[in-house]
Amino acid sequence: MRLQDNVALITGASKGLGLEIARLYAERGARLVIAARHSGALEQAAAELRQKTEVVSVAQLVLPQMRARATGVIINVTSDAGVEAYAGWGGYGASKAALEHLSRVLAEELAGSGIRVYVVDPGDMNTEMHRHAEPGVDLSGLPGPEVSAPAFVRLVEDEIWGFGRFKAQEMAAVAETGR
Ligand SMILES: NC(=O)c1ccc[n+]([C@@H]2O[C@H](COP(=O)([O-])OP(=O)(O)OC[C@H]3O[C@@H](n4cnc5c(N)ncnc54)[C@H](OP(=O)(O)O)[C@@H]3O)[C@@H](O)[C@H]2O)c1
Repeated sequence: MRLQDNVALITGASKGLGLEIARLYAERGARLVIAARHSGALEQAAAELRQKTEVVSVAQLVLPQMRARATGVIINVTSDAGVEAYAGWGGYGASKAALEHLSRVLAEELAGSGIRVYVVDPGDMNTEMHRHAEPGVDLSGLPGPEVSAPAFVRLVEDEIWGFGRFKAQEMAAVAETGR
């Protein structure tokens, strides 16, 4: 699927990984629907992205429209905490495990519909969420979200994968080294 002239809905697009993916999608000519909870940061992101593409905030009830068009890609962002047990990360890990299973079920429900479903673990990143989760810990050695974001372009544009769990930083390493 080409991103050019298609519409992408990105939740959590005001900062971090979501904003980085929105920038890449905008550069490739996708029109954007973006969402987050805090309107200030969201409007700031929208103003930046509008320099490259058409942007609106909000969207519910997307799936019926995708079904009607018989095309589309859903990418849910998970974490290694959804499969590994980290002390103190129970709520977060359980919600990610639930999201992964929900995605698996959705992929079954959408089989043959033309809509693809993927789960992506972006890997450890130096973002606001991670800094808040581990106050006082030096995260400057971690990659930023710009390393993980290109995987979200490949999954849309390369129409070669069925449902699966992908690791964005491993995909970036393969793209760089060819291995
Ligand atoms: N950073 C890591 O090391 C890491 C590792 C593994 C997985 N992840 C996953 O990667 C994703 C992006 O995280 P990030 O590190 O890029 O975080 P971030 O920099 O803090 O950005 C999070 C974005 O999500 C929005 N958001 C948060 N809660 C929301 C809600 N309930 N509804 C709608 N929007 C919401 C935030 O805006 P508002 O606050 O205004 O809503 C913001 O735009 C998350 O799913 C996270 O679990 C991150």
